[in-house]
Amino acid sequence: MRIMVLGAPGAGKGTHCKRIVERYGVAHLSSGDILRRERAENTELGRKAQSYMDSGTLVPDGLIVEMMSKAIRNAGTAGYVLDGFPRTVNQAEALDESLAAGQNGLDIVMNLQVDDDLVVERITGRRTCPQCGAVYHVKNMPPKEENVCDQDGAALVQRPDDTEDVVRNRLKTYYEQTEPVVEYYKNKGAVHDIDANADADSVAGLIFEKLDGLAGK
Ligand code: AP5
Repeated sequence: MRIMVLGAPGAGKGTHCKRIVERYGVAHLSSGDILRRERAENTELGRKAQSYMDSGTLVPDGLIVEMMSKAIRNAGTAGYVLDGFPRTVNQAEALDESLAAGQNGLDIVMNLQVDDDLVVERITGRRTCPQCGAVYHVKNMPPKEENVCDQDGAALVQRPDDTEDVVRNRLKTYYEQTEPVVEYYKNKGAVHDIDANADADSVAGLIFEKLDGLAGK
């Protein structure tokens, strides 16, 4: 399956893409996670991306399209779920061109919709595991032991771009540059809007309802 998950910062893209990976065995292609890995490894791409990410603006399209085309080529035969890409209409057009060239379009585009006031609360309360990438929330999805990853016992961290000021800038960037991507796919055919304001299990139920049919479950 080739799945695309769109949505504002904090909509739950990462949370639900991880559940999609567990249930359907596809590869998780998160542009944000790949960029954070590049930064941790201090690669040229990571160094170039740093200032954009820290301020909540977008990394230039050329760098992202090359990085994600490579990830898609290496994704494996079970397919993939795209998380955080594409984020501009230019990126969407480049993706469509490369998929059309390989004659393998997307099976489904889902758009997680969440209210702005929830975004700030969710993102400022997010904690992640630096080792395995598990995502928690201090109130909504706390680990069993405070600030410790349930899976590997590592100390949880807060992303440097998860402060309230940067979140507000990420939201502004989303409305200016990424919301048009939703319109772009709506104009091309079906986009499945998912109400992502409810608790994570309820939202996952709505997502699995759409995907089970496609997966023949
Ligand atoms: P990226 O890492 O993609 O960040 P984002 O899009 O801002 O999305 P987030 O990861 O913040 O949110 P999410 O929707 O995954 O929410 P999550 O599931 O964690 O990008 C970071 C930066 O990289 C960008 O600003 C940009 O600079 C650059 N970048 C990345 N891709 C790019 C591209 N294509 N082009 C250019 N630049 C790019 O959930 C958030 C919190 O809420 C968690 O704590 C979670 O536990 C909780 N939560 C989730 N769902 C629920 C629920 N239903 N109920 C209660 N709590 C919930």
